Amino acid sequence: MAKGILLLHGPNLNLLGARQPEVYGSMTLDAINAAVEQHLASYDIELRIAQSNREGQLIDRMNEARDWADGVVFNPGAFTHTSVALRDAITAIELPVIEVHLSNIHGREAFRHKSLLAAVCLGQVAGFGWHSYLLAADALLRHWDLLRD
Ligand code: DQA
Repeated sequence: MAKGILLLHGPNLNLLGARQPEVYGSMTLDAINAAVEQHLASYDIELRIAQSNREGQLIDRMNEARDWADGVVFNPGAFTHTSVALRDAITAIELPVIEVHLSNIHGREAFRHKSLLAAVCLGQVAGFGWHSYLLAADALLRHWDLLRD
């Protein structure tokens, strides 16, 4: 049975590749999206991808996901640490959401240690660079019992 995944990127992730490569790596967002697409190519998955620097647009994409998606892979960027509205959106849509970070937020500045979102997500993947996204996609596949060895 086909599943739908929304791959959603938050603020400043459009700058990946150029933005603090020592922290976030040198892959561009397009290259990461292509890697996720390729990773899922052998599965019957509809992948839709969006990025926004605006909290309201991220909430809109999340709300729309109710109509077509079965799960969300979400890097909320700095909104991770600030957004009650995104937390409420995740709760409202009743879909499994995997919170993703390229960096290990728990090893960085104290204000990044707290995620307002993680508690309402299925889980969090952080610290594996762009591979974090592949691990997050695998987490959804496993959740659906679709992951192959
Ligand atoms: C990030 C971590 C956040 O703290 C930061 O604000 C980002 C990127 C990551 O992927 O490591 O924008 O979400």
